[in-house]
Amino acid sequence: MAKKEKTIEALLKEKRTFSPSKKFTEKAHVNSDAVYRRAKRNPEKFWEDFAKELDWFKKWRKVLSWKPPHAKWFTGGKINVSYNCLDRHLSSERKNKAAIIWESESGESVVLTYWDLYREVNRFANVLKGLGVKKGDVVTIYLPMVPELAIAMLACARIGAPHSIVFGGFSAESLSGRINDSKSKVLITSDGGYRRGGIVPLKKNADDALKRSKSVKKMVVVKRVGSEAKVRMKKGRDYWWHDLMENSHAYCEPERMDSEDMLFILYTSGTTGKPKGIVHTTGGYLVGAYATTKWVFDLKEEDTYWCTADIGWVTGHSYIIYGPLANGATSLMYEGAPDYPDIGRFWAIVEKYAVTIFYTAPTAIRAFMRWGEEHPQKYDLTSLRLLGSVGEPINPEAWIWYHTHIGGKKCPIVDTWWQTETGSILISALPGITKLKPGSATLPFPTIEADIVDEDGKTIKEGAGYLVIKSPWPSMLRTIYGDPERYVEQYWSRFPGMYFTGDGAKRDKDGYLWVLGRVDDVMNVAGHRLSTMEVESALVDHPSVVESAVVGRTDQLKGQAIVAFTTLKKDLKTSAKLVGDLRQHVAKKIGAIARPDEIIFTAELPKTRSGKIMRRLLRNIAEGSVLGDTTTLADPGVVKELKEKYEDKE
Ligand code: WT7
Repeated sequence: MAKKEKTIEALLKEKRTFSPSKKFTEKAHVNSDAVYRRAKRNPEKFWEDFAKELDWFKKWRKVLSWKPPHAKWFTGGKINVSYNCLDRHLSSERKNKAAIIWESESGESVVLTYWDLYREVNRFANVLKGLGVKKGDVVTIYLPMVPELAIAMLACARIGAPHSIVFGGFSAESLSGRINDSKSKVLITSDGGYRRGGIVPLKKNADDALKRSKSVKKMVVVKRVGSEAKVRMKKGRDYWWHDLMENSHAYCEPERMDSEDMLFILYTSGTTGKPKGIVHTTGGYLVGAYATTKWVFDLKEEDTYWCTADIGWVTGHSYIIYGPLANGATSLMYEGAPDYPDIGRFWAIVEKYAVTIFYTAPTAIRAFMRWGEEHPQKYDLTSLRLLGSVGEPINPEAWIWYHTHIGGKKCPIVDTWWQTETGSILISALPGITKLKPGSATLPFPTIEADIVDEDGKTIKEGAGYLVIKSPWPSMLRTIYGDPERYVEQYWSRFPGMYFTGDGAKRDKDGYLWVLGRVDDVMNVAGHRLSTMEVESALVDHPSVVESAVVGRTDQLKGQAIVAFTTLKKDLKTSAKLVGDLRQHVAKKIGAIARPDEIIFTAELPKTRSGKIMRRLLRNIAEGSVLGDTTTLADPGVVKELKEKYEDKE
């Protein structure tokens, strides 16, 4: 403990700041802070100027219609996202430029030029139409990181069918829940996916999911693995991707979408057990993704840009596909894990393609740190000119390591704060002008009214409080799919008139923002968002379990680790085997990312007299901190006993 305190103290003492080099600033898209003043003077004009850089079939009548908490952007405008990501680049030299460079786990590569991608997307759009998919029909996509994933999502956008992408690491049950919520009729998957040399049985999971998801009538299966995957195709329901594509026509007219038509649904964990379908629409989302990609990543024609996220998360939606392609950039897409076949894999890829912009998560950076700088040192990383971080707070120590050993001390780091709900980056440095402080996401993007408030919604000028956004932005979520009331209640009720992010943050004397993490029952495990209740329901579903309370505790590597306090049925004995079974059960119910790191058995959970589980206490126990006030507990003895038990373990 003493050692831990020392490191924290040392980190708080990190007072260095980092300004971009003159050379970087001179060439940057944004090289003067006049942009903030311009944005402040006329926020709508600011966004309208970006919208004008895209291709619209019909211009909007009004930039913003704001009836809190409902915003509409670019109303009356007609636009197609796939047209903006593909067609509009074909009349220039971009036609033969790499749109997507795909690298497989085993080292194969596929390069799709803008023309290639355009052709494939058109053909698949026609396949979808042939399967009966119409504008407004939700298509679920459950694929590994293969080029067909990019093709499928752009094809959906082309015909106006909202996609709902489910991360390939989720279980059959999670997939089924998302399909049922969206009532999707078509599912796109693959026979399997490669992960660290093994095979993830996606088609089998999909088959299992469809036992409980009757809305799906057609399934398209990409052949990724081949005979080893041993899949069974159901006649009349399942079709191979390559068979359908064979005779598909190479042009499909892009649907003229209303700016406010739905582009996609993406499910994310909230504070309840049931994931929420976050709804994003067309025009505003694209403008937000386009503008932030251009400015935050200072994206230029000649860049090779790599975001290491999976497209199953929002980061991949906005910053592998829509943002970069709308900018006509070259976006690298990597299928595999950072440590397979060896821990130099990422750096080998940076060297192989001379990547210039690299965007990853703090949890990965901390793993690289632990593995040692000798690994990146084996590769030529001099092509890099800008680094990014996303998903959780980056500790200054990891920031400095990233800056030194990956960025060669010359690359600015943009620490980008945003959420599935925000659609695009809301807080970040602009790399050509912002003085960086390690650990701080720095300043709101131009026009974004981010603020820190106290319990009553009053601004805290300097210090910690709740992070809120006080005015609408183009790529904000429009609603929760099928649950408009939850949208209002979840985001706009805690502080009337303000969007509540669920995060705590502090502001320093220079106005810099430091995001501290979630203040609700949402955990952030290795950059993945999970609700405590989801994990609890999975545990309670096991026949041996009566009750469970799950909390996140600080973890050096993953940011947070999952600790599950669990009560077993009477007379059941605890055992290492049971712990293993329970962890496996959660993985099966939700996905491997939700597997608890620790399971603590307890005869009872600490509750208030009204029967509410006292999570704060459990968090304190898990963090090894002082107990605080336990007088409202029905049986204070329970906590004491629990605490002793937990400490025994260490
Ligand atoms: C939550 C959103 C959208 C990016 C991927 C995660 C945390 C995100 C940062 C950052 C500190 C961050 C917040 C947020 N978060 N970026 N730069 N610094 N925290 O998207 O799954 O919707 O999770 O991730 O807690 O609320 P998500």
